[in-house]
Amino acid sequence: MSFFEIQGLRMHYATSRGRVKAIRGVDLKMDKGQALGLAGESGCGKTSLGLSILRLLPNNAHITRGRILFHGEDLLRKSEEEMRRIRWKYISMVFQSAMNALNPVYRVGDQIVEAILAHEDITKDEAKERVSELFSLVGLDPGRAGQYPHEYSGGMRQRAVIAMALACHPELLIADEPTTALDVIHQKQIIEKMDELREKLGMTMIYITHDIAIISETCDVMAVMYGGKIVESSKVRDLLRRPMHPYTQGLIRSIPPLHDSVGRLTSIEGEPPSLLSPPRGCSFNPRCAYSRDICRTSEPPLRQLNGGLVACHFAEEIPWP
Ligand SMILES: Nc1ncnc2c1ncn2[C@@H]1O[C@H](COP(=O)(O)OP(=O)(O)OP(=O)(O)O)[C@@H](O)[C@H]1O
Ligand SMILES: [Mg+2]
Repeated sequence: MSFFEIQGLRMHYATSRGRVKAIRGVDLKMDKGQALGLAGESGCGKTSLGLSILRLLPNNAHITRGRILFHGEDLLRKSEEEMRRIRWKYISMVFQSAMNALNPVYRVGDQIVEAILAHEDITKDEAKERVSELFSLVGLDPGRAGQYPHEYSGGMRQRAVIAMALACHPELLIADEPTTALDVIHQKQIIEKMDELREKLGMTMIYITHDIAIISETCDVMAVMYGGKIVESSKVRDLLRRPMHPYTQGLIRSIPPLHDSVGRLTSIEGEPPSLLSPPRGCSFNPRCAYSRDICRTSEPPLRQLNGGLVACHFAEEIPWP
């Protein structure tokens, strides 16, 4: 039994323009203690996947198929009451928009204390003590715990949200662009802290980010999402050394070279697919230089190749310099 596994997950948002098919059949397996980096262009469904796991989707979202197994139990079959017990304590999330994750009318420290007390049988003083430790850990002055979210800067709020997510020592942490509001120096600090904690607590992590450099430094496995699906996943080193999917290749080519003072950036040509009416066949086919007839009619399954997984009909034939 896997520690965590997603099987055949499908989810759409009902909108006035039709169904936005944000997750179009995702399969994912994780071992305990693993760190998975989830990458992909804006709008490909990364946040939707994270929110589905915690069942924190907005009302217009509908999960129509699949299972989300945590310790072998399907989270999609849990009652809301059971999910409340699981959230924060066993699975928690650092939200992409830090502002929405904090309640503006409560002091930041109190919010974290409440979250701890809701799940753990400890005294209020012990919970406060832990909040102080958490604040130091993420680089916030513990003296600020008594302030309200609006008294924090954007970067401070983001740190507070990370502290909150870690408060109950979750087994699985979903971190959705956790450091985008921070400058590079603080970004590095926070990432190192989270890494340290992951090792100390044996935490499993799904790290959602556009930043492939961060994935290469902190994750064991990398998965690439495109048009609501995972199109490739492998050990990070293998994937960066030898990307198999044409989309992954484009993504890696678009990273600016470290020592290139000109800072050239080759972006992938064309638009990401519309999730209202995704293209037939492989959803990358309209942008793919290797596309052939079959790519426009038949959807390539995610299949094993070179120790990883790839969803491309012609992965064996596509060169990589
Ligand atoms: N509440 C909603 N109602 C309708 N459509 C939505 C809603 N939330 C997200 N979407 C759409 O679902 C798709 C996936 O969005 P999602 O936020 O999961 O992408 P993402 O990969 O996290 O993007 P980003 O990198 O910009 O954060 C997008 O087409 C988005 O416009
Ligand atoms: Mg997102």
